[in-house]
Amino acid sequence: HSEKMWGGRFAETTAASLEAFSASIHYDSRLYHYDIAGSKAHATMLAENGLLTKDEVADIIAGLAGIEADIEAGTFVFRRELEDIHMNIEKALAERIGPAGAKLHAARSRNDQIALDLRLYLRDQCDRLTELLTGLRRAFVAQARTYLGAVMPGYTHLQRAQPVLLSHHLLAYYEMFGRDVARLHDCRRRINLCPLGSAALAGTGLPIDRERVAELLGFAGVTANSMDTAGDRDFAIEFVSCCAMIQLHLSRLAEELVLWAGSEFDFVDLPDRFCTGSSIMPQKKNPDIPELVRGKSGRVIGSLMSLLILVKGLPLTYNRDLQEDKEPVFDAVDTVSASLSIMAELVANLRFKTERLQAATTSGFMTATDLADYLVVKDVPFREAHGIVGRIVAYCVEKKCELETLSLEEMRRFSPVIDKDVFEVLSVNGSVDSRISTGGTSLQRVTEALGAAEQNMGMR
Ligand code: ARG
Repeated sequence: HSEKMWGGRFAETTAASLEAFSASIHYDSRLYHYDIAGSKAHATMLAENGLLTKDEVADIIAGLAGIEADIEAGTFVFRRELEDIHMNIEKALAERIGPAGAKLHAARSRNDQIALDLRLYLRDQCDRLTELLTGLRRAFVAQARTYLGAVMPGYTHLQRAQPVLLSHHLLAYYEMFGRDVARLHDCRRRINLCPLGSAALAGTGLPIDRERVAELLGFAGVTANSMDTAGDRDFAIEFVSCCAMIQLHLSRLAEELVLWAGSEFDFVDLPDRFCTGSSIMPQKKNPDIPELVRGKSGRVIGSLMSLLILVKGLPLTYNRDLQEDKEPVFDAVDTVSASLSIMAELVANLRFKTERLQAATTSGFMTATDLADYLVVKDVPFREAHGIVGRIVAYCVEKKCELETLSLEEMRRFSPVIDKDVFEVLSVNGSVDSRISTGGTSLQRVTEALGAAEQNMGMR
């Protein structure tokens, strides 16, 4: 007979090649805490329902606590021939406490057990990522306060478009990462249901109390259908999709920092301690952090693709393929956590070059829209106004000058309604401050948005 915990019906011992190929303990050992918490709750419920004696449950809980302590101390030996975290812990328990240990797995399967471990793990990760996102958002809010009033070019197509406040740009990221928090919150609601009691796929005939286990583990309720539960990885896919969106946002931020730190833009200084040099070019100071964050977005998107493809052809319910879900999930968690925390540190320490930002707003005809709006106020239809200003810009390009350096007389050649009040409209600050629509870039609106953000982040 096979020595395996499931070996009763096997005549041969397992091939070493299969053991090596199928083991997951080298990565799923990371779930030990959740596996043990789940077993404690399961045992407690079994005892309450007469399936374990008081002594047995006490032994089981103490045994599990001892195993957890050993794992944390680094003295627990994980065994590959025991395949996964579930059997490593169960076997150790049986060795430590004897017969009671063998009773723990009643009314349970590794199928609902792994679903439980993963849900508990991801529930915690939702909370951790939310904290990290909050740290990053606070860094944006603090910088927006520091630089309130500084102007810069706003871009579309990476071409200078209209002047904006730097703080408005920074608070755009505060909003973006706020949606990521909301997405995780929503994802967490679907994670937070207890799968235990689904057993292998069909439920169990033993007298268990699923609601009690859910309550002990802090779940909001239990899953509804045992077959769905055994094969469901939607929650993991959804979680990794949240991760992909976060990393995508970080990557866009990273791209801007790389551009802005380069001499062509020269908008921001990344502190030396966050940059590296070149082994050959002595003058180099490279923005490695944002570059790596941008590069790592490929990994996280890849993890999401792996999971989608993993699940797409699976029949209900549990299939061993599902063991392949763990590594992409863990890699996404590790990558996003590390990226969020280092980017928060970097953003908090950015030094913006406000004179450079300001200087960049004085060319590129960025107040052209303001001039068109000025004409609209003087009752010129917008399309006509657009044409007039376009011709004025073409004239400036020809003459190699800026809008605000034209004389009133020159401008009046294009439209007689233009008057000397036009010069207010052509100033950068006038342009910014005119944008008072909700969500706009005027100092008034940005000050309000900043105040709301500070309040929301508990920063005042
Ligand atoms: N290690 C397995 C996994 O990660 C646990 C469930 C195994 N179930 C089974 N019937 N072999 O999916």
